[in-house]
Amino acid sequence: MSKHLTIVNHPLVQHKLTLMRKKDTPTAVFRQLLREISMLLAYEITRELPTRLRTIETPLTEMEAPSLFGKKLALVSILRAGNGLLDGVLELVPLARVGFVGLYRDETTLTPVEYYFKVPADLNDRLVIALDPMLATGNSSAAAISRLKEAGATNIRFMCLLAAPEGVERMLEAHPDVPIVTASLDERLNEIGYILPGLGDAGDRMFGTK
Ligand code: URA
Repeated sequence: MSKHLTIVNHPLVQHKLTLMRKKDTPTAVFRQLLREISMLLAYEITRELPTRLRTIETPLTEMEAPSLFGKKLALVSILRAGNGLLDGVLELVPLARVGFVGLYRDETTLTPVEYYFKVPADLNDRLVIALDPMLATGNSSAAAISRLKEAGATNIRFMCLLAAPEGVERMLEAHPDVPIVTASLDERLNEIGYILPGLGDAGDRMFGTK
């Protein structure tokens, strides 16, 4: 992927996103829409996966047919909201390996602190797709990507549902080598770091915790 930011303007993605943004959309519907959009975003983010021709037999003849080639993908959910994107992507790429990064924000230093880190082996040989629905300030996403690089990842992409310009800027500065795929570039952050117009707290909305 050569572009740093790809916005998936597909009508299905945009329609589903509109439904998700509405404040009265119930948790179960929100979750289902997120799953559907994550499949469509996965389609885009995996567009350039390498393939090799293999000889197969159709019922009629032999042919050289393209098949995915190389080590299995690693999907890394940035907890907890990243889990909302995980299921849909796994449905499309069922053989992917899965990792988790847990970070919380220290309220005094305002810096991300890691509380969980478990990722597949051989990250350096895999395309790693980091999942987090909301790219807001970009601080925790940038920290999670740094940890993945420390663990050996060299080929990373970042999938989110919404991005704020501030977060995109932060990621570009910290990780210019990591392409971002999103359904929307929203207007800005509010004073407490929420994306506007956004959809509220993605974790609360998908897990019904508020
Ligand atoms: N995280 C969210 O869940 N929502 C935002 O708007 C920003 C960060």
